[in-house]
Amino acid sequence: MCGIVGYVGSKQAAPVLLKGLATLEYRGYDSAGIAIWHGGQLEMAKAAGKLQVLRDLTAEGSKLPGTMGIGHTRWATHGEPTDVNAHPHLSRSGRFAVVHNGIIENYQQLKTRLQRHGYNFVSQTDTEVIAQLVEYYYKGDMLDTMIQLMNQLEGSYSLGILCVDEPERFYAVRKDSPLVVGLGQGENLIASDVAALLAYTQEVYYLDDREIVVLAADKVEIYDSSRDLVHKEPQHIDWDVSAAEKGGYEHFMFKEIMEQPESVRKTLSPRLQDGQIVLDDFHIDRERLEQFRKIYIVACGSSYHVAAVGKYILEQTTRIPVEIDIASEFRYRGPIIGPDTLMIVISQSGETADTIAAMREGRALGAHVLAIVNVLGSTIAREADDVLYTWAGPEIAVATTKAYSTQLAVLYLLALRFGQLLGTLPEAELAAAYRALEQLPELLEQALQKREHIQHMASQLYNKHSIFFIGRNVDYAVAMEGSLKLKEISYIHSEAYAGGELKHGTISLIEPGTLVVTLATCDRLVEKIKSNAEEVKARGAYLLAVAVEGDERLAKVADAVFYVPKTEALLQPSLTVIPLQLFAYYVASQKGCSIDQPKNLAKSVTVE
Ligand code: M6R
Repeated sequence: MCGIVGYVGSKQAAPVLLKGLATLEYRGYDSAGIAIWHGGQLEMAKAAGKLQVLRDLTAEGSKLPGTMGIGHTRWATHGEPTDVNAHPHLSRSGRFAVVHNGIIENYQQLKTRLQRHGYNFVSQTDTEVIAQLVEYYYKGDMLDTMIQLMNQLEGSYSLGILCVDEPERFYAVRKDSPLVVGLGQGENLIASDVAALLAYTQEVYYLDDREIVVLAADKVEIYDSSRDLVHKEPQHIDWDVSAAEKGGYEHFMFKEIMEQPESVRKTLSPRLQDGQIVLDDFHIDRERLEQFRKIYIVACGSSYHVAAVGKYILEQTTRIPVEIDIASEFRYRGPIIGPDTLMIVISQSGETADTIAAMREGRALGAHVLAIVNVLGSTIAREADDVLYTWAGPEIAVATTKAYSTQLAVLYLLALRFGQLLGTLPEAELAAAYRALEQLPELLEQALQKREHIQHMASQLYNKHSIFFIGRNVDYAVAMEGSLKLKEISYIHSEAYAGGELKHGTISLIEPGTLVVTLATCDRLVEKIKSNAEEVKARGAYLLAVAVEGDERLAKVADAVFYVPKTEALLQPSLTVIPLQLFAYYVASQKGCSIDQPKNLAKSVTVE
């Protein structure tokens, strides 16, 4: 959601900024702009629409000389996506340029105050207030100005700021919104995430809230809000630049679907050692685990769907009651949790605003917070009591696939380890599940090999207007993910239901030809879901089923069946989801949708 880049060095800045913004396109945006310091002035170009408009406007950046600048892709919050509302925003004299991610909650009060001092505003954005405030406070010392600015702003922000008086330095700061500093050779950068930095460096600083960064070509200084210098160790990012490139695939989503066996292998194999599940840097031993009366899993979107699977499997292996919640609901619920609660938060980005807020609420109430996160150094990773990383590598497509699969993999590890520590999981079941975990990457590869049939079915069914997904137990949890995947990239209306709920209302929507995708991989419940499938079939539904190889029970009712390899019941969701991801992908592809950047969506939802 919005993307920031900033550059200072010896290269022409504008092409560097455009390249960085292109890498951040996946976050979602509807306008873009850059500002460059050059010859004692700030020069700016910005435009509504895709980055190509800005590229054309600036002749790929060549029209803007200068070696220092800031750039932005905007996902509209305050004011429509117009040229004027696009970032950067200039102060009234044009001496300061600002790019901003986040939301300034008190912008209206600040604006009114500034208007009383004679400041006029040209845009409808909250960000313009920041540019004007900088000018209002500036008395020749940018560091002082930044501190005064922070004291005024309420809400979330990461900022890049150029000052016309500073030909060699620019400024950045963050609060509750991601910003990373890239340390190059004779050049330094900022970006909303590391993907935009990888072409220049793999050495980064992660910033804490309210830290101010002063970037020059040969030096980066970080100050706290008392103006004291902060010493930080650079972190090395293991991802290389190819991880954030398409590598010959038409879409990032497809590349990431195909990367799942490898991502799951990377996530699992260092933690499966000689028959033992090894969770490094983990502070939950048996004694601590026995103190937990409840497990609460909180997340958003697909990460919440992983939580939904987690509820079934953790309750089964630990016999501890597990509650799940959507982070935006949890944070305002007045949740009943305390030191006897293990709170698990799940997030690919580690920057989802609602999940961060829920985590902070949980910690404030005394819960022990364990985070399952993909992005190293992200806010959730840094603030949680314990972190288990999903080693999925950068995920670029808005629709998550490999992050979902690796999150599931980490939950399995937890479920097995907890079951072992508590003695609630019989030895034989543990051993079988452990072996199945070792085989999971291989089985994922097999599941992906069946994509031709799925592509064919998508070509037959892509013109449906409404699709239902049904399942029971973990199949219901996976059905939710299948439905979300389809609707977010193909724009087809879709709903997921627990099979047993159909008769309580939804079945009235079934008409001749309605597509119902029936998940039937839960062995002990196949007969039950088969009855539900028969009920919709009797009302004319077109039935697509997902079943495990060798189980022909659904074949008798369904119009077509996607078969997935069989594994231990606990791990089956990892394989069940694969045809659903592929089906969504192929349907969207048939419809010619913008698969990697679906309309209205952002990869990382960093505002509430
Ligand atoms: O980064 P997070 O895992 O916290 O993101 C949560 C959701 O925004 C995310 O899973 C979203 O639902 C995906 N676009 C689904 O594909």
